[in-house]
Amino acid sequence: MKLVKVRDHEEMSAFAAKFILDKIKSNKKVALGLATGGTPVRTYEMLIEDYQKNYTSYQNVFTYNLDEYEGIAPDDPNSYHAFMFKHLFDHINIPKKNVHIPNGLSNDILLEAINYEAMIDEIGGVDLQLLGIGQNGHIGFNEPGTPFDRETHVVTLTESTRKANSRYFESNDQVPKKAITMGIATILKSKEILLLASGESKAKAICRMFTGEPGTDCPASVLKNHPNVVVVADEKAVSKLEATMNVELLLR
Ligand code: PGA
Repeated sequence: MKLVKVRDHEEMSAFAAKFILDKIKSNKKVALGLATGGTPVRTYEMLIEDYQKNYTSYQNVFTYNLDEYEGIAPDDPNSYHAFMFKHLFDHINIPKKNVHIPNGLSNDILLEAINYEAMIDEIGGVDLQLLGIGQNGHIGFNEPGTPFDRETHVVTLTESTRKANSRYFESNDQVPKKAITMGIATILKSKEILLLASGESKAKAICRMFTGEPGTDCPASVLKNHPNVVVVADEKAVSKLEATMNVELLLR
């Protein structure tokens, strides 16, 4: 894993947007794995700003989102479908048919997971997977304890994740109890991974993912087993790691 230390959320987002744009511009066809949450919002905004200024085309970009809540319709404002259209897809020229997000309303959610994994296998894994990280080290909805060999699956959300995500809902009770998520094995099929972290609340997870052996106590630590990972963390997110070791050795 390589570490890129940046000053703050803005610098993290600028690095990520450039990284993604370089891929889009250099590949004829590119498969991007995308994430929701607060972390990538500014990155997406910067992609939109670039689109408006430079007309970078997304006609040959194919996207595969990490996860979706179960039982929420795509047009529900709390769905990850709605999130992605609001924060990115509605503002760029990506064809709708190129967008892939698990269907949380599927009649057969287990089959939906199997089909989603098969689709990712068909393209040989995404070219670049964008990830955030949970305070507990989760990636996607893969919470601590998730076996590293899990592929796309249905997950019962932990209370801490439901609480963290309740900020988007009117009340705690409205946060879905289940979700469909790419598994850790799915994420590891990506050719390249870009993980973003900003703020003090991520410092413990960033420290754990770089120190010690990969372990299911911190799902993100599995990324040590992947040959092509860049972690972009701001000063606050990297603070605990810096207190533990000399990060110069990790910097790219
Ligand atoms: P956040 O979530 O970007 O809202 O901090 C990250 C995550 O839970 O993966």
